[in-house]
Amino acid sequence: MAIISSKKQPQPSEPDKEPRHRKKPGQKPSGESGEKLLQPQAATDEQDNKEEGIRPHQFADYIGQKDLKDVLDIAIKAAKSRGEVLDHLLLYGPPGLGKTTMAMILASEMGVNYKITSAPALERPRDIMGLLVNLKPGDIIFIDEIHRLSRMTEEILYPAMEDYRLDITVGKGSSARTRSIPLSKFTLVGATTRVGALTSPLRDRFGLIQKLRFYEVEELCEIVLRTAKLLKTDVTKDGATEIARRARGTPRIANRLLKRVRDYAEVKSCGEINESVAAEALQLFQVDPCGLDWTDRTMLSVIVEQFNGGPVGLDTVAAATGEDTQTIEEVYEPYLMQIGYLQRTPRGRVATPAAYKHLGFKPPSEQLSLLS
Ligand SMILES: Nc1ncnc2c1ncn2[C@@H]1O[C@H](COP(=O)(O)OP(=O)(O)OP(=O)(O)O)[C@@H](O)[C@H]1O
Ligand SMILES: [Mg+2]
Repeated sequence: MAIISSKKQPQPSEPDKEPRHRKKPGQKPSGESGEKLLQPQAATDEQDNKEEGIRPHQFADYIGQKDLKDVLDIAIKAAKSRGEVLDHLLLYGPPGLGKTTMAMILASEMGVNYKITSAPALERPRDIMGLLVNLKPGDIIFIDEIHRLSRMTEEILYPAMEDYRLDITVGKGSSARTRSIPLSKFTLVGATTRVGALTSPLRDRFGLIQKLRFYEVEELCEIVLRTAKLLKTDVTKDGATEIARRARGTPRIANRLLKRVRDYAEVKSCGEINESVAAEALQLFQVDPCGLDWTDRTMLSVIVEQFNGGPVGLDTVAAATGEDTQTIEEVYEPYLMQIGYLQRTPRGRVATPAAYKHLGFKPPSEQLSLLS
């Protein structure tokens, strides 16, 4: 069972102790440079091991997500004033938007310890039981990818979340007895990229359910400037904006692009990152001005060139790009829909006029009527 505890806080210089994310289904081992750079999932390369050092540790450093911060700020203040534990919280949204970061910030704002684990690490009932009985009052337990919890683990969590109680069965057959073990009051923070995959009894037990949205360019620019300061890298506002524009609305990608541009600036120019250095570097890494990578462009061109703009079924798009349907739905489509290049319709995926323009095609008039 992989658990990260807050008791020994990771130091910025220490290697990242957070369990590295498993390769998401369909994720290629290593694609073209741009392709890999734009994967919003946590990567396993050495650079990303330094993620801990740049992760914000307090509310003030957590940029953007104003609605989420407002809701949580009120919840924290109310819980503190009543001397109660924070309600269970479910955070959902695409990878790399700051779910784990927010869970850690919550623990530090509440002044409690946290334990981080992920659902696939809680396969056996004793994994979750061991975790729950060792919690201290107010502790936060963070379960990543919570939609992947096993049925048994979920059943154990129901009374634990609702009544802070662990129900266990002792003995077998006719001598079997149920015993309840009281637990310390705790907060469960669950994170998922697929809120729809959660069972409704589990979802209903969360007092707060919050969605993380993609970041605006200005917010990502602020994140890039903050990270650059921590990395002791010179970056101009224009340079940071250029990186932010290509980061697919995702802080993890913005930080990763900044590190690659920093390498380029150190080798190819005087070290300072300005707009032209950032643009040159990102062009070299095949990150296009909208932050689209090879898979995004292939998806859109298949729909536009081979299917006259759509509608096209998800399976066809998956076959054309070599990605699996889940990765397309969770990783690629949300951003393409966010920037208005793709629509999901009951009959399939449809490319919008903006996508035609981006690929250098003229949208046919029928496409406009399909979308209306
Ligand atoms: N609001 C923010 N302000 C500044 N930096 C942020 C913010 N959100 C995320 N980051 C940066 O992005 C990185 C990725 O964030 P995090 O690990 O919290 O994402 P996640 O939503 O948990 O992703 P996943 O779904 O893959 O687990 C962090 O290391 C942090 O440096
Ligand atoms: Mg995470």
